[in-house]
Amino acid sequence: MLILVTGASGQLGQSIKNLVKQQKISESFIFVNRGQLDLSSNSNIQNYFKTKKFDLIVNCAAYTAVDKAEDDHEEADMINHIAVKQIAEIAQNNNIKLIHISTDFVFDGLKHKPYFESDITSPINIYGKTKLDGENTILSIMKFNAIIIRTSWVYSEYGNNFVATILKLTQKNSNLNIVSDQIGSPTYARDLAQVILKIIKSDKFNTLEKESEIYHYSNEGECSWYDFAKEVANISGAKCTISPIKTEDYPTAAKRPQHTSMSKEKISKTFDLKIIFWKDSLKYCMKNLSTLSLINKE
Ligand SMILES: NC(=O)c1ccc[n+]([C@@H]2O[C@H](COP(=O)([O-])OP(=O)(O)OC[C@H]3O[C@@H](n4cnc5c(N)ncnc54)[C@H](OP(=O)(O)O)[C@@H]3O)[C@@H](O)[C@H]2O)c1
Repeated sequence: MLILVTGASGQLGQSIKNLVKQQKISESFIFVNRGQLDLSSNSNIQNYFKTKKFDLIVNCAAYTAVDKAEDDHEEADMINHIAVKQIAEIAQNNNIKLIHISTDFVFDGLKHKPYFESDITSPINIYGKTKLDGENTILSIMKFNAIIIRTSWVYSEYGNNFVATILKLTQKNSNLNIVSDQIGSPTYARDLAQVILKIIKSDKFNTLEKESEIYHYSNEGECSWYDFAKEVANISGAKCTISPIKTEDYPTAAKRPQHTSMSKEKISKTFDLKIIFWKDSLKYCMKNLSTLSLINKE
């Protein structure tokens, strides 16, 4: 089995790469970053797949700059929708399975209970809209053999993310104000990467002509950004005071949905998963981060 992973320098791409190395299964994977496969050009995508044959594509690449997308609709649409359409067509025409990653931002956040996969979508920003268009295009092209995993609030040891930002800010400042009226569920990219590898190995996914499905995945439990930041500071032992503020006191270019926790029942039952509580995964990631920063200082 040969598996292509796009977005290799992103949080999820790097987390999958790291696990694949640990599990000594690297020979089955090809990881490509933007330099190797730029999804902003139709001809690049066509040319790339002309000469290569894969059994599965895991599409981790995305336009993820939520605020920038408001002024950059065309580029966000190109990566999150048009390129996804092309990838789905290539997968469909060449008998390639597809695992694609989407977002809780396809919802408007007004349900105030965990969202199910079957709930009505209604994105309130451009990023969410382009990601939803990407989902819909896959489902219309691939009746079988595609899995879409909606996830939320992704953090990791890699790149810029909420945990890294709060760690930096709590070291530099004695007071921080963080939004407390947006509720969701953090996702440790390593946990999502484990789930993707488990799905790839499962008979359920490998059965021929399996109907395409959407699944929700994040860590267990929900919190506000304020709770999340407090927990980061608590684990790191930072002496910074963190205070709750309202969304209207922290204006951003893109509107954020208020409450987007998602039910993980479907994915847990289908693939027999035990989902880790968000605070436990956060501790694990931060332990890795502190080991990495000690190594970098040596
Ligand atoms: N981060 C979150 O909080 C979050 C929440 C919900 C859902 N998701 C979804 O989860 C998935 C993984 O997210 P992530 O956190 O790993 O995102 P990320 O760290 O921003 O990684 C996305 C990757 O996509 C690549 N990319 C962007 N434009 C590209 C292009 N034109 N051609 C090829 N590659 C391109 C980026 O390349 P460069 O490194 O060169 O920029 C980056 O490596 C995405 O589908 C995202 O929509 C993320």
